[in-house]
Amino acid sequence: MSDQENGLQEDQTWPELELPNLLYTDTVRKLHAAIENDWDALRQSACQTAAGRALWKHVTHDPLAELFAGETYLRNIYEKIKKDRLNKAREISGVILAVRTLWFDSKIEDAINSFDGGATQVVLLGAGMDARAYRLSCLKESDVFEVDFPEVLQMKTTILEASTESTNEFQLQKMKAKSLIRVAADIRENDWLKKLQTSGFVPEKNTVWVLEGILYYLSHSNAMEVLKIIAANCILTSTVLLADFMNKQSTTLSSSTFHFHSDWPDHLLPSLGFSDVKLSQIGDPDAHFGLLHDPQNVFNKLRSLPRSLQTHPDDGTPCCRLYLVKASGSPSLTIP
Ligand SMILES: C[S@@+](CC[C@H](N)C(=O)[O-])C[C@H]1O[C@@H](n2cnc3c(N)ncnc32)[C@H](O)[C@@H]1O
Repeated sequence: MSDQENGLQEDQTWPELELPNLLYTDTVRKLHAAIENDWDALRQSACQTAAGRALWKHVTHDPLAELFAGETYLRNIYEKIKKDRLNKAREISGVILAVRTLWFDSKIEDAINSFDGGATQVVLLGAGMDARAYRLSCLKESDVFEVDFPEVLQMKTTILEASTESTNEFQLQKMKAKSLIRVAADIRENDWLKKLQTSGFVPEKNTVWVLEGILYYLSHSNAMEVLKIIAANCILTSTVLLADFMNKQSTTLSSSTFHFHSDWPDHLLPSLGFSDVKLSQIGDPDAHFGLLHDPQNVFNKLRSLPRSLQTHPDDGTPCCRLYLVKASGSPSLTIP
């Protein structure tokens, strides 16, 4: 794979891992040590994802990802990327994450633009260490709600506070969103929507729901409940759902971690009340961002096969797919 396909120009090398000084301060070191020692894998996935975005910073432009990720996760992914490049791998570690980030960024902007004025809300369920409120200027008229476990959101706030107290490069990070509210909730419980409303979410306002890297961590019944709650909002207002779905084969990569799957989210979501669903696969025209040109890339090979295939006809390996899905609905299109 050429550097151009990695999101780099031919004459550029992969950026060296230069960790910001702030990661070495006592306060931030201790916070990340607590994450590594005290958090379960589910919560730690927030920092792993941030590390992926940080290593692909030349395309994701996430100014806070390194700070949120912490040294250990950054070094882990950096070593994988180094190995991939040495072995001239067709897929460099983290590329899925980079494409996924850019896909969500572009669809959030499209969704906000598609609403004809009016106040917009953007709700990030399982927000983890997402920094879009600090990163996307398209959010300037939007109220952003980040929903995650209390300890994840508290840690995020504490890390940000530590950065603003110090005199270094992170001090200048300014909020891009109109407002940002963190809502501590477990979305497996039946009170999360109530908590969101108590925090200022208004069901009647146009809303973009962002479910990035979250659905497959939930059980089937929990995930379906969350999707039904969001679908029910289509009756009240213009609603856009952006979510990634694993197919069944993908969840077998770690059956103790991944649970909910759908091979046909484009059939599932209309059955719940969404009127318009568009599904993309990594490598599709709206989901490659110049990072996946090689036709022999695993993603390009996969997406040229019928989606009903569970195993690859060439080598019998499981067809592990990640679907990027945009679904929308509005009162005028919802059949009561
Ligand atoms: C893989 S991370 C993705 C984070 C973020 N969306 C991103 O793309 O960077 C999954 C996040 O979902 C959160 N999460 C998982 N289960 C949850 C639940 N039941 N309620 C609230 N948050 C949950 C985790 O704490 C973690 O922050």
